[in-house]
Amino acid sequence: MSSPTSSVIIKGIGSFTPEKVLTNGELSEMVDTSDEWIRTRTGIRERRIAKEGETASTMGAIAAQRAIEDAGLSVDEIDLVIVATITPDMPFPSTACLVQTKLGISNAVCFDVEAACSGFLYLLELGSSLLKGGTKYRNALVIGSEKLSSILDWEDRTTCVLFGDGAGAAVLSISENGEDGLIDFRLGADGTKSDVLYMPGGGCSLPATIDSIEDGKHFLKMRGREVFKLAVKVMEQSAAEILEQNNLSPDQIQCVIPHQANLRIIESISTRLNIPMERFFLNLEKYGNTSAASIPIALDEAYRSGRLKSGDLILMVAFGAGLTWGASLMRWC
Ligand code: UT7
Repeated sequence: MSSPTSSVIIKGIGSFTPEKVLTNGELSEMVDTSDEWIRTRTGIRERRIAKEGETASTMGAIAAQRAIEDAGLSVDEIDLVIVATITPDMPFPSTACLVQTKLGISNAVCFDVEAACSGFLYLLELGSSLLKGGTKYRNALVIGSEKLSSILDWEDRTTCVLFGDGAGAAVLSISENGEDGLIDFRLGADGTKSDVLYMPGGGCSLPATIDSIEDGKHFLKMRGREVFKLAVKVMEQSAAEILEQNNLSPDQIQCVIPHQANLRIIESISTRLNIPMERFFLNLEKYGNTSAASIPIALDEAYRSGRLKSGDLILMVAFGAGLTWGASLMRWC
């Protein structure tokens, strides 16, 4: 039985990335770009691209299955499934319901959350709060899954070089022996900046028409330089605030898992927070920006590579369309 003071831990974690690799060299044959430009401006070398039939729900289900196995649970023990995605399989039903069916989870509350690249941190606070809120939920499956290749304009070099596909998942559970687990969250949003990163078409304000498709309204649009500046500002602020409110100095953080969007953004955060780059876990050179999947894929790889030790304090920090942002503090158990 939980109480508002119980702690919530990540009991299991898993990820999935598609097999197909798209390198910078291959991209430079598709649009007017170069490996050198992409590497020096972003840190990305390649990204994964989902094949036909691979979707947010299929990738999410594989990542989730791995997380459930890592947790040592059976699907019957999952009673909450929440998916963060900006590329759901379809507007409805939710991708969470589709994952539920694929995994045979028979008795769970399922819904999606849309907070773009900050989505996974939103899920951690939401899942944690629902678990702590009472006796109803025992184990929450939280998943970030994206098929961004499906909303990219493959003729727009300013966006198509940045993103990739993949999924990451975690099982959240109430700690049985009082470990710290998920300690604190600082989430935020500013809808006045919604026009710096968005997709105009496909919703009720602009349903698909022949004109909307010809005008490219169903592709992701971004003002990259503005997003860059806002990202650095909000990530630094939320991270600095969470450290201060928990009376932590930068040297007490063993590992930072940042949203993997751009190496230069991460380097700026490192300088501003006074946490050396060696303590940041990076995998963006392999996957590019996978939006809501970025942090859980990185967390899973950090864990599986032995980078995370029991007792380590981990800072996660993200920003994304909305604008949304967040920082989260966790002790690895
Ligand atoms: O999860 C949130 C997702 N969004 C982001 O993380 C994006 C944040 N922003 C960024 O990462 C960077 O702003 C970009 C990587 C998108 C762009 O880097 P930048 O250093 O801000 O470049 P810029 O937009 O100022 O463009 C510099 C030049 C321009 O040419 P001119 O006007 O100087 O002649 C662009 O047209 O680079 C050109 N350019 C490219 N050249 C080769 C833009 N994209 C490319 C490209 N290849 N792919």
